[in-house]
Formats: sequence, structure tokens, C-alpha cells
Amino acid sequence: MATSAILKAITTLLAGLSLQLTLPVNAVTPSPSCASRFDWENAQLTNAIVANLSKQQQPNNSSSYFDFGSDAKVARPACKTFPGDASWPSTQLWNSFNATVDGALIKTVPLAAPCYNNWPQRDAAACQYVTEHWSDPHLHVNDPTSAQFPVFQGRTCLPTDDPSKICTLGGYASYSVAVTKVSQIQLALNFARNANIRLVVKNTGHDFNDKSIGAGALSVWTHKLKDINFFANYACRSYRGPAFKLGSGVVTEEVYAAAERNGVTAVGGECRTVGVAGGYIAGGGHSPMSTLVGMGADQVLSLEVVLPNGRFVTASEDSYPDLYWALRGGGGSTYGVVTSLVIKAYPKIPVTTMTFGFTTGPNVTVDTFWAGFKAYMSYFSAFTDAGAYGYFIVVAIGPDQYLFNFMPLWGGNMTKPQLVSLVTPFLNELSNLGIAVTPNFTEYDSLYKAFNGTWGPEQVGGSVGNSASRLFPRENFVTPAKLNATLGAVRYAIEQGGVLIGYNIRPAVNPGVNQNNAVNPAWRKTVSLFILAGPALASNATDAQVAKASKVLTTDWMKKWRDVSPGAGSYMSEGDINEPNFQQSFYGSFYPRLYALKQQYDPTGLLYAPTAVGSEDWYITGQLPYLPTQNGRLCKKTT
Ligand SMILES: Cc1cc2nc3c(=O)[nH]c(=O)nc-3n(C[C@H](O)[C@H](O)[C@H](O)COP(=O)(O)OP(=O)(O)OC[C@H]3O[C@@H](n4cnc5c(N)ncnc54)[C@H](O)[C@@H]3O)c2cc1C
Ligand SMILES: *[C@@H]1O[C@H](CO)[C@@H](O)[C@H](O)[C@H]1NC(C)=O
Ligand SMILES: *[C@@H]1O[C@H](CO)[C@@H](O)[C@H](O)[C@H]1NC(C)=O
Ligand SMILES: *[C@@H]1O[C@H](CO)[C@@H](O)[C@H](O)[C@H]1NC(C)=O
Ligand SMILES: *[C@@H]1O[C@H](CO)[C@@H](O)[C@H](O)[C@H]1NC(C)=O
Ligand SMILES: *[C@@H]1O[C@H](CO)[C@@H](O)[C@H](O)[C@H]1NC(C)=O
Ligand SMILES: *[C@@H]1O[C@H](CO)[C@@H](O)[C@H](O)[C@H]1NC(C)=O
Ligand SMILES: *[C@@H]1O[C@H](CO)[C@@H](O)[C@H](O)[C@H]1NC(C)=O
Ligand SMILES: *[C@@H]1O[C@H](CO)[C@@H](O)[C@H](O)[C@H]1NC(C)=O
Ligand SMILES: *[C@@H]1O[C@H](CO)[C@@H](O)[C@H](O)[C@H]1NC(C)=O
Ligand SMILES: *[C@@H]1O[C@H](CO)[C@@H](O)[C@H](O)[C@H]1NC(C)=O
Repeated sequence: MATSAILKAITTLLAGLSLQLTLPVNAVTPSPSCASRFDWENAQLTNAIVANLSKQQQPNNSSSYFDFGSDAKVARPACKTFPGDASWPSTQLWNSFNATVDGALIKTVPLAAPCYNNWPQRDAAACQYVTEHWSDPHLHVNDPTSAQFPVFQGRTCLPTDDPSKICTLGGYASYSVAVTKVSQIQLALNFARNANIRLVVKNTGHDFNDKSIGAGALSVWTHKLKDINFFANYACRSYRGPAFKLGSGVVTEEVYAAAERNGVTAVGGECRTVGVAGGYIAGGGHSPMSTLVGMGADQVLSLEVVLPNGRFVTASEDSYPDLYWALRGGGGSTYGVVTSLVIKAYPKIPVTTMTFGFTTGPNVTVDTFWAGFKAYMSYFSAFTDAGAYGYFIVVAIGPDQYLFNFMPLWGGNMTKPQLVSLVTPFLNELSNLGIAVTPNFTEYDSLYKAFNGTWGPEQVGGSVGNSASRLFPRENFVTPAKLNATLGAVRYAIEQGGVLIGYNIRPAVNPGVNQNNAVNPAWRKTVSLFILAGPALASNATDAQVAKASKVLTTDWMKKWRDVSPGAGSYMSEGDINEPNFQQSFYGSFYPRLYALKQQYDPTGLLYAPTAVGSEDWYITGQLPYLPTQNGRLCKKTT
């Protein structure tokens, strides 16, 4: 399979040169991982193939574009090459590259191009479809380069009913490879590195800061890597038990459904279409299961990864242990392209959810409302210690009017009587405050059923505002003075118009998994993740208005949050692209080690994403302060 596919690609490439190429049999390096590789992971690029490409391609010499990277430091231009530059690959060279990747190269067309006369794709019906489905994440997930927060793309091609406007690629990548096997990823990385092209990795495009896009980039699109293997009795190194091997294109709802079919529970996020093995685990990954078993990244037993030098390796406790550490929490698009990973699974558990909401009203003054929220926060420690997970919103719904709502409070591994008994003291406190609530308890016999019964399809694509997050330490909810100060900081932001999407969550200490990884140390101390959406903006807000609102969020509202939690952190996957001292906030004390590993494995800076490890060494041209987009050329800072 491996060799025949590559042979086909190379035969296509060489057709014009009328040469024959014989490929070696068994060119594949065996995986030191205990789960065998997927078939498409055995389709690998080898030295011999690259050497033959090189030889056969004279005199055009484009073959050197496919060479593996060396460890030697080589002088590089300060900026990545960009469309229109003399150094940008010719159409002929792109065609050669396309042939090596088996025709999987896509020349990017913005999703909304059918709405514009300046694109040959102009088509009123297609435009109407895109316009109507713009907030459906599947539209963006299924597109090779679209992402879910157009504000970071530069908003250069939104759906419109005025076809005379101009649509440009903006921050979208120029080309994308819809990869279905490892050799294509290796060739893409080698080509981008040798041709000095910006490289991005796109899975679902769900990242809060659109870390999967980039102007003038070649994109590796992992969406089609959908395989899921279940091992009822995985036995490898110290672990014996159920496990899944997941291709990096697999998303949450697919993993949960596979777990349900196999009578087990998997750890994933709460949103249906977020990738599991891509940005989610790379960033740490919080889950309704976290309070029971730890972070998503803690569950990883091994990973398969194409390194920036083009080599394909396994990262585990005994193979590239430094990468095994860094790939679990150190951030996506940094150390390589993960093609699959193996995660531990757990026996089936019951789940009981509780929902209710309360607002200010005739019997609930503004101060009483906040006293009710403070009462909840005072239970954050107790609830997470008992294994519960809370998901809620706090928002102003009018002048001096506020709403609190559970979405829901989630009792993992709890029957209804167990959850009722846990929350009764809290409900009594609300009652004593005069806040009348009618809790709705629902018991499910599996995580999948609870997930499916709780969360519907999400909406994306509309927001132009920024958001930020804080991992407040446990002490903020335990020490009375700190609890009061935390409440004050939260209340300030909500009074100003912020929206709090809150999680009462704590990654459990779990001796059954390897928690010695790069997950932000702030996670280990927290019992909450508070996401704060910045000032509300109309979807047609100008860049200047967006930048101004983002500045308020970062330097005023969030400053108060940082001030009441000095030394704590923020969650990189749901973070502020303008986060001050992002190295400390997103990576904590691990940053120096992560940075050193970045220099070691990616000396040429092939992989870049905003706020990723090492990103401080780069900039994108032509940016407004507080509105960094990917619409510009990527350049290295000169020191
Ligand atoms: C509606 C919504 C709900 C969410 N819910 C949760 C939640 O419950 N828990 C949680 O922890 N997070 C949650 N998130 C945040 C989520 O973890 C991040 O958005 C994450 O980055 C998504 O990863 P992705 O691979 O799906 O997306 P992408 O945006 O495609 O990728 C994110 C980053 O990872 C990189 N990347 C992707 N795949 C690979 C790969 N194979 N190898 C190397 N790098 C790769 C990309 O280059 C990019 O930098 C949510 C986000 C949204 C929008
Ligand atoms: C490279 O090509 C030559 C023919 O030009 C062939 O003899 C040789 O086996 C090939 N080697 C590999 C490793 O493909
Ligand atoms: C090699 O270069 C020649 C002349 O420049 C051109 O005609 C030919 O198509 C090129 N071949 C490839 C594979 O790029
Ligand atoms: C072909 O590539 C080799 C090595 O990359 C280089 O030394 C040589 O000068 C190149 N030839 C041409 C004609 O560009
Ligand atoms: C790559 O090749 C395939 C198959 O030949 C073709 O359909 C596709 O359009 C090509 N891509 C580009 C960017 O030319
Ligand atoms: C407000 O309190 C009064 C007196 O306790 C009660 O009769 C009434 O039902 C309450 N109203 C609401 C909306 O809870
Ligand atoms: C669920 O609870 C049972 C019984 O208390 C326990 O044995 C099991 O380990 C728990 N499972 C998880 C995932 O916490
Ligand atoms: C309680 O919650 C469940 C699950 O969301 C829902 O199906 C049901 O309609 C709710 N019941 C009431 C009375 O709101
Ligand atoms: C998921 O929920 C929907 C409605 O919310 C329901 O129609 C469907 O049957 C559920 N699926 C499963 C597998 O339980
Ligand atoms: C509680 O915090 C507020 C600021 O939000 C402050 O004004 C007040 O003095 C604090 N009260 C106590 C008892 O610390
Ligand atoms: C946005 O659109 C509204 C009407 O929908 C208009 O009143 C407003 O002026 C527009 N704002 C900008 C900045 O164009």
C-alpha cells in the first residue's frame, strides 16, 4: 500500500521525463509503539525515494525541494516567501509537488467566493447556501482552509449580498494538501521548509485564535485522517486496559460515539466538532471527565508525529520521551504534525446532570444575585473534589439585570441521589438568600447519552469580538478575602458588558495515567476555567472598533482578573491572542524547556502559530495593535 501509492505519485511526476522508477519494497520503518500504525501511516517517504526524486529530476532540480531537513543551522531569509515574490514557487513547481502528493494539492478558494464577481466561482445559489450555513461549524470543518473566527483572517471574504465587493484570500492559506497518508505530510513539510513557504496545520479550524490559518501558507489539512481503532485489552508498557487509537482528524462526537459502541468512556471536550487528537490534546484538553481522570493530554499513551525535518517518529515514554512530554500540553502546530495517538479509555459510567437558572427580579436584587453566584463559587472546591463539573454562563440581560444559568452542572459517575445529596447544601443557601430555583435532574447511563442529551450543535463564525480566559487557583474560592476579591473582579467585567462562560473544573490527580507532561501547571492548581467574552460588537464593526474592544478586554477587564490571581495562568486553547506575557500565562514554568525543545526540533521555524511556543520570535506584517490577524507576511524578528 505504502509503496504503490508513492510509486503512483512519482510515476505521475516523472511522466514528462519518461523515466522509470523502481521503488524499494519494505521501505517502511517499524513503529516502536505498541499499537500498530494505521495503513496510511505505513505510506512513508524514505531517503531512497527522496534520493531518486533528486536524481530523476535533473536538470530542473526541484527535487531538492523534497529533501529531509538536516540538523545543521542554515541561514534563512528573514521572511517567508509570499505569493508574487520571485522566490514563490512557479506553477510548474506546484504541479510537481502536486504529483508527489498524489494530486491531493488544493489551490485555495475562500468559502464565500461564490458571493463575489471577482472569483470565477461566483454562483448565487452557492452563495446563498454559504450565507445560510455560515454559523454551522461543519461548513468550516469540511473546508480545507476556513476557520471559525473570521476576524483573525482579516474579514476579507465574508458572505455578502453585494457581489461587486472584492473578496481576497486574506489570512487563508494559499494551498492546502488534503492528506490521507504520512508520505504526503512529509513531502509537504519538506517542500515548505526547502521552499521557505509558511506552513500551517488545519484540523477543524476551531481554535479561538484561528491558529490553523496563515496568508501565503501551505496548509496540511488533517480532516481526512478519520480512523478509530478500539483495543479492549491494550497492553503496552505499564498500561493494561481499554484504549483508542485515533487519527488526528477524528472529532469529539465521533470518539464519544465509538466509546458508546464499545461500552467504554472516552475523554474529550464538550463540543461536538472539536478535533480530539489535534489542537485539543496539544493544548491540554479539558473535559467533563477531567474532574474524575485528569486532562485530555494526560490520557495519551503514545503519538505518531511527522517532525519539522520531515521524519516520522513515535513519541512515548521510551521513544522521544521529550516530545512525548511536550506534545501533551505544549500546544499545537509547534513540534510537528501529529498523525494519530493512543488514549486510555475507562469503563462506562452513569452521569447525572442538573440545570437551573436564576436572574435578578422582584425578589432578587443585584446584590442578592451576586451573593448567589458567590455562594456557588464557595462550593467550587467541594464540587470538583466530589468529581462534579460545572458549566455555566453569567451575563447582563439589561440595565442592572443579570442572568446565571447552568449548562449544566454535571455529575460524572453519579446517580441522581448522589448528585442531589452533593448539591443540597448549595441549593439551601440559594433558598436562604431568597433565590428560588427549580433544578432539573436528569440521569443517564453513559457519557455519550448525557453528552447527546445536553449539548446540541454549536454556532460559529459570527463573532468579531475577542475573548480571554483565566485559570483561577483553588485558593481564590476558599480564602474569604480572595473569594470576595474574585467576585469583585468578575462582577466588574459582567457589569461592563462581558459574558462569563464558566467551568467549575479541576483535573483530577490520577495515578493511573502519566501526568508528567507539558499541560500548563496553572491547570493543576485550578478549580475553574473562566472564559470572558469582550465588549459586544456588531458583526460589521470596523477593525478600529474591534481593536478598541479587544484592548478593553485585555488591559481593563482581564487586568482585574490577573490582579486577583497573580502567577496563575490562562488556557491557551481558549485564550486571548493579546495575552500579556503569554509565555507565563499559557505555559507557566514549563516555558523555558518548551522553548529549548522548539529550537531543537524546529531550528528553521517551519511551524508557527500565534501564541505558540517560539512565536515571539516572529511577526506578521501590517497589523493593527490589539487586532493581530494572519493576513500578512510572516517574518522573523531581527535582534
Ligand atoms: C465551540 C468550541 C468548544 C470548545 N470546547 C472545548 C472543550 O470542551 N475543551 C477544550 O479543552 N477545548 C475546547 N475548545 C477549544 C479547542 O480545544 C481548541 O479550539 C482546539 O485548538 C481545537 O483543535 P482542533 O484541532 O479542532 O482545531 P484547529 O483550529 O484546526 O487546530 C488548533 C491548533 O492545533 C494545531 N493542530 C491541529 N491539528 C494538529 C496536528 N495533527 N498536529 C499538530 N498541530 C495540529 C493547528 O495548527 C492549530 O494551531 C472549544 C472550542 C470551540 C470553538
Ligand atoms: C532508484 O532508481 C533506480 C533507477 O533509476 C533504481 O534502480 C533503484 O532501485 C531506485 N532506488 C530506490 C530506493 O527506489
Ligand atoms: C523541467 O524544465 C523544462 C525546461 O525548463 C520543462 O520543459 C519541464 O516541464 C520541466 N519538468 C518538470 C518536471 O518540472
Ligand atoms: C541542483 O541542486 C544541487 C543541490 O541542491 C545544486 O548543487 C545544483 O547547483 C543545482 N543545479 C541547478 C542547475 O540548479
Ligand atoms: C493536483 O492534481 C489533481 C489531480 O491531478 C488535480 O485535480 C488538482 O487540481 C491539482 N491541484 C492543483 C493545485 O493544481
Ligand atoms: C417573591 O417572594 C414572594 C414572598 O416570598 C413570593 O410569594 C413570590 O412568589 C416570589 N416571587 C418570585 C418571582 O419568586
Ligand atoms: C466510578 O465509580 C466507581 C464506583 O465508585 C469506581 O469504581 C470507578 O473507578 C469510577 N470511575 C471513574 C471513571 O471515576
Ligand atoms: C429537564 O432536562 C432534560 C434534559 O435536558 C430535558 O429533556 C427535560 O425537558 C427537562 N425538563 C424540564 C421540566 O425542563
Ligand atoms: C441524540 O439526541 C437526539 C435529540 O437531541 C436524538 O434524536 C437522538 O436519538 C440521540 N442519539 C442517540 C444515539 O442517543
Ligand atoms: C470585597 O471586595 C470589594 C471589591 O470588589 C471591596 O470593595 C470590599 O471591601 C471587599 N470586602 C471585604 C470584606 O473584603
Ligand atoms: C453596521 O450596520 C448597521 C445597520 O445594520 C449600521 O447602522 C451601522 O452604521 C453599521 N456600522 C458600521 C461600522 O458600518
